[in-house]
Amino acid sequence: MIDYEVVQITHETFKSARREYDDWRQAWVREILQNSIDAMSTFIDVTIDGNKITVYDNGCGMNEDILRNKLFVMNASSKNCESSVGGFGKAKELLFFGQNEYQIFTNDFYVHGIAHRYKISKKDFEIGTKIVVDIDDEDSPRWYNYFAKFIKTSSWKGTIKIDGDEIKERLVAGDKVTDFDFGTLCRRHNADSYMLVRVGGMPMYETYIGNNTSLVLDLKGKSYDLLTANRDNMTGAHKQAVQAWICDFNKNSKTALIKKNCKVTLYKGKKGILVRKSEKEEVPEDMEMIYRTPEEHGPIIIKTRDSGGDSIKLEIERLPDIKANVPYDCVVQNMLTHDIPTAFTPNYFGVNARWVLNAWTVAIYELHKIFNVESAFYTGFIFSKDFEACQGNYGGFPMFLLNPVDNECNIKYQKKRFYACKMLAIAVHEFSHIFSNYHDEEFASKLTDRMGIILDEGPHLIKKMLEGEVCV
Ligand SMILES: Nc1ncnc2c1ncn2[C@@H]1O[C@H](COP(=O)(O)OP(=O)(O)OP(=O)(O)O)[C@@H](O)[C@H]1O
Ligand SMILES: [Mg+2]
Repeated sequence: MIDYEVVQITHETFKSARREYDDWRQAWVREILQNSIDAMSTFIDVTIDGNKITVYDNGCGMNEDILRNKLFVMNASSKNCESSVGGFGKAKELLFFGQNEYQIFTNDFYVHGIAHRYKISKKDFEIGTKIVVDIDDEDSPRWYNYFAKFIKTSSWKGTIKIDGDEIKERLVAGDKVTDFDFGTLCRRHNADSYMLVRVGGMPMYETYIGNNTSLVLDLKGKSYDLLTANRDNMTGAHKQAVQAWICDFNKNSKTALIKKNCKVTLYKGKKGILVRKSEKEEVPEDMEMIYRTPEEHGPIIIKTRDSGGDSIKLEIERLPDIKANVPYDCVVQNMLTHDIPTAFTPNYFGVNARWVLNAWTVAIYELHKIFNVESAFYTGFIFSKDFEACQGNYGGFPMFLLNPVDNECNIKYQKKRFYACKMLAIAVHEFSHIFSNYHDEEFASKLTDRMGIILDEGPHLIKKMLEGEVCV
């Protein structure tokens, strides 16, 4: 039999593992704490003394078999269950073999290691694992912050002390924005423009997403199936799905974050649906037809302005149509989690709410006139934390909805010139969406042109809005 030689592995081989991580110090902290947490610890004590870091945990500890056949074997791991975050059997090269010297006190074993050489001996039994590592590093002052940050951005329920300070803060993810079959994406209420990716509530890495929003992606399942071995990234399909969502989100964050369910009511006005007919030309017969409110309403579609141009698929609860004391049919769409204040439902309108609807309707009607668009359309209100107004489609007709309230549900508009001007500017924007879904350059330049024309008509239009009566 031919004698083969074996590839040499040196201390340098393991030292160079640091280059495989975005930030090896942060990765070191993540890997040492993740091992302690995977060991079902409820208490962790960290002390940092120059370049000597000691981490004690009261977890299950290791026996001789685990030490020899898992910890000291490259790519060996004892973890293959859903509840563990580890499983690659890779962290040891960064944690120990690439460092100068380390000691592990675990149950009744003591390990002394120098780089990738180690010696196991027996000692008296003590619960848990104490790991002391002489970190080969010149940059010691940052270690405290790395440990604190890991814990503060985790959802771990145990107790941890760092240099005697108990760190109590944890990161509770905010409102859910979307579900993937491999995890849940939530909003975080600070604006650092990063997405934090966690597995089992443990922070794995952060990635820049822009847009002044912060997100937390809590992955379901084992990091082995979801992440690259250095845990600084996700694997193929998962990464693509999340990137596609973020791409849409960056183009139109409001649309991406929208809660996709709502209640919609059509309030039937005395004169039916409002129709803008040309004064000059003969009114076609089918235009007369749509003067009557259509009995069969199709699905409601809110036009999105994201990359795909797809419409948002709203889960709509259609409430029965109601006859109301308003001149024209109007649509009320509620995207809040609670009911709309009664003063804003057409049958119980307060004076202000009535003026807001009328002024909004005048603005939309006049825009149809100025830009010579013939159409039947609905106006009305949208109640939402995300939208100031929206343009959509109801029963095959365009609809233009204004959000009349702020986040505390107080009315935003009053019968004053200033508010009418603001409303008119919003109306021009929403009106422009009947020509284009996207907030792209073309939309912007057309909007500018239309604004120019409207500024010219301004005083006359504002007067009509303040009077609040549509002159058909
Ligand atoms: N603090 C600890 N308490 C108990 N067992 C531990 C501890 N640290 C490491 N181990 C054992 O050593 C094994 C190897 O650890 P290592 O971190 O290298 O790999 P892993 O955690 O299994 O996978 P990964 O590379 O994904 O972290 C673990 O599977 C675990 O059995
Ligand atoms: Mg590990």
